[in-house]
Amino acid sequence: MRLLHLAFAFALASGLAALLIYIIGVSHLNETLELWEEDLEALRTLQTGFRKCVGANGLGLEAVSGKDYCEVTIQFPADTIPKWKDPKTGELEGLSYSFNLCEAVATWEQVRNSTTILTKEFIDALPHGWEEYAWRRINKGVLLNRCKNKILCVEKLSLVLPETPPYLPHQFDRCAVIGNSGDLLKTRFGDEIDSYDAVLRENGAPIQNFTEFVGKKSTFRLLNRGSAKALDKVAELYETGKEVLLVKTTIHDIMSKMIQEIPILNPVYLMLGASFGSAAKGTGLKALEFALSICDTVDMYGFTVDPGYKEWTRYFSESRQGHTPLHGRAYYQMMECLGLIKIHSPMRADPKRIVKWLPSRSTVVAAKTASDKLLGRVGAGSKNPLAACSITKKQMKRKPESMFSLRKEAVEHQKYVNGATMYPLEHNPGHGHLCTVP
Ligand SMILES: *[C@@H]1O[C@H](CO)[C@@H](O)[C@H](O)[C@H]1NC(C)=O
Ligand SMILES: *[C@@H]1O[C@H](CO)[C@@H](O)[C@H](O)[C@H]1NC(C)=O
Ligand SMILES: *[C@@H]1O[C@H](CO)[C@@H](O)[C@H](O)[C@H]1NC(C)=O
Repeated sequence: MRLLHLAFAFALASGLAALLIYIIGVSHLNETLELWEEDLEALRTLQTGFRKCVGANGLGLEAVSGKDYCEVTIQFPADTIPKWKDPKTGELEGLSYSFNLCEAVATWEQVRNSTTILTKEFIDALPHGWEEYAWRRINKGVLLNRCKNKILCVEKLSLVLPETPPYLPHQFDRCAVIGNSGDLLKTRFGDEIDSYDAVLRENGAPIQNFTEFVGKKSTFRLLNRGSAKALDKVAELYETGKEVLLVKTTIHDIMSKMIQEIPILNPVYLMLGASFGSAAKGTGLKALEFALSICDTVDMYGFTVDPGYKEWTRYFSESRQGHTPLHGRAYYQMMECLGLIKIHSPMRADPKRIVKWLPSRSTVVAAKTASDKLLGRVGAGSKNPLAACSITKKQMKRKPESMFSLRKEAVEHQKYVNGATMYPLEHNPGHGHLCTVP
């Protein structure tokens, strides 16, 4: 009798599994790419490890499986008191967040091999690049009548538009992304932060008077629209060298004028946009995206990631309106448990802290392949990295000297992609890339 029960349960389970595969398959795939048993196994392994990782490293967070191989829900302890209210609905932030691990793995792994800085080469290669895309990246673009007059548009963008990518994947080894949270004042991370190969800061974050907490070094600074308008002030924040300023939004006339007239000697670039869903709009995620596209490892400091926050504060000024702190914390924990970043905070202050239950490289690679198939991504299932290119164009000549000083890892990566540059395409249904090849 018991055996019969067991057999029945087994039959039911495999029936359900088959149904699940069928549902996932039909709802996500319009190209009939077959998911093999090893694909499902990879997603199961990723998700099982992921749940353990969140349990072991999440300071009270718990991950539970959702309705399919991709979905997980990260839950805060029931006694967490949310403080942040959505200004539109007046509702308090929730205690549980669902994430699609497949989408996260597919998208973020691809970022590591992409170029995230806007170049002339990209606009030239993009269909209607100058008439439409360039026009959207120039403030007051309306007056330019969709860049019908290309010369005028080139002129406006030229101050921030390198011909070819100024940075390559794996160009840097260890990078740190520094947020602006008031939590930074609780731990003296300064020397530790200065030990990184590249340090990325955000907006108007000062260094002077805070070096024991935030370090002295600064390589890049990511600017939102407001900070970019005060480019002259921002450029003064790092006196000992020239930070590279990365602008998240558009170039506007105030900015161009400052670059030309003050003049601002720092290199200034615009970032390409890639969207990662609603959880991921802030400057912090954009900074992580840039860092992941040029660094082997990315460590994060100064984000609100510990339990018990009261209000969102900044280390250098009075508290200020933040947004979605619990959602953000859950998302960063997901990133840590996918092996993308390592979180440092007052409650995770040991620099040698080991993130337990991280997925192995082979698990991540297998899960990425499975996810690409499941999500119908361009080039899914192919061994050729350039299969992810939906537009391929010939490259502008690279300066040969730019290759001499590269790290071994960056050179190896260039070999792997045959010297191609991969730019993520915005709003492309299969997340295809624009690739330029030698
Ligand atoms: C899948 O379907 C969507 C919407 O129906 C379509 O826009 C897209 O081009 C299709 N993708 C492929 C790879 O066929
Ligand atoms: C650092 O402190 C000095 C003295 O209090 C002050 O004059 C200066 O403006 C401060 N610098 C920054 C960047 O806050
Ligand atoms: C990115 O490039 C590395 C080689 O540097 C390769 O091993 C990896 O599979 C690539 N990832 C993707 C998503 O193409």
